[in-house]
Amino acid sequence: MDAVNVKGTRRRVLVAGGAGFIGSHLCDALLSDGCRVICVDNFLTGARSNVAPLENHPDFELVEHDVCEPLSIDGHLDEIYNLACAASPPRYQADPVHTMMTSVLGTRHLLTLAEKSGARFLQASTSEVYGDPETHPQPEDYHGNVNCTGPRACYDEGKRAAEALCFDHLRLGLVDARVARIFNTYGPRMQADDGRIVSNLINQALRGEPLTIYGTGRQTRSFCHVADLVAGLVALMQVEPNPGLPVNLGNPGEFTVSELAALVHQMVPGAGAIVYGPLPEDDPKRRRPDISRAKTLLGWEPNIPLRDGLKETIAWFRMAPLAQPRRHAAKRQYREAV
Ligand SMILES: NC(=O)c1ccc[n+]([C@@H]2O[C@H](COP(=O)([O-])OP(=O)(O)OC[C@H]3O[C@@H](n4cnc5c(N)ncnc54)[C@H](O)[C@@H]3O)[C@@H](O)[C@H]2O)c1
Repeated sequence: MDAVNVKGTRRRVLVAGGAGFIGSHLCDALLSDGCRVICVDNFLTGARSNVAPLENHPDFELVEHDVCEPLSIDGHLDEIYNLACAASPPRYQADPVHTMMTSVLGTRHLLTLAEKSGARFLQASTSEVYGDPETHPQPEDYHGNVNCTGPRACYDEGKRAAEALCFDHLRLGLVDARVARIFNTYGPRMQADDGRIVSNLINQALRGEPLTIYGTGRQTRSFCHVADLVAGLVALMQVEPNPGLPVNLGNPGEFTVSELAALVHQMVPGAGAIVYGPLPEDDPKRRRPDISRAKTLLGWEPNIPLRDGLKETIAWFRMAPLAQPRRHAAKRQYREAV
């Protein structure tokens, strides 16, 4: 990645949601590439500890702000990545109206900032726009099967609306907007209590508790290491010309939830037996990205094997600080629901 823009100055990049799991890894990558980085976050689900090592970096600036409110940043920006949005089901369901507004109003405010500051824009969308898919694996032209009235709709429909906003701004010639549809991502800095399957199983295993599988365990997921994902986001932001289409970013390796649980069980000595719980509402049965478009347009594909990534993530969770208190405590009972 080239750290300078066309004017020969170092790229100035805003990362909304930059204190979160993926966002903080993206801030790290951009800084190591020589960019100047402005991280905007309201710490709803992000952790200060994720960006604490960057706070004294001369090229890093932290702005505490809720993107549901308009945002003003002086000067030219080269790029805006919008990752602001709680991604874990218990967290985004705890305040569903705020979740929807984060995706809709937040994306609109950041697109307006991109228009004013001349920045290129990348929206972190999600495989959840495919809902419980009837097409497998999921290519980008599959329009999805989302329940627009269910408990996950605040997230899924919010993200769908945000995509529409991005493509409207692109078609209107206002912003060079790009959309990444991110599939399940895992790695260091996931939150221990975020209700997602990888963190759930690892933390149960580390505590010596039984490993809970929700449903039969035959449902499938694809797991992409965060370093692979960040490389894909940067490649999509950089690619010329703008693909003008959403791009799936994820790992096409498909595992059943039972296979994942067995792997974690094998890798963490002392893990308890596997037990079964009820499947959450609207939980997708199969999920696997078709990444042909990313391969062709970006020359990108993930290359970190699940076993290697899990090893690193398990090691990180062994050392991780206790989960910090969140501004909105989840109202729903904890359950794995990726
Ligand atoms: N992790 C995944 O597997 C995954 C999969 C698909 C899509 N995504 C998308 O990627 C992005 C990052 O996900 P993540 O896993 O890092 O989640 P995360 O919850 O760790 O990060 C989201 C960040 O956004 C911040 N945020 C939330 N609402 C905000 C608001 N209104 N104003 C300002 N900041 C706000 C949070 O405090 C947090 O730091 C999200 O947009 C998510 O929808 C993630």
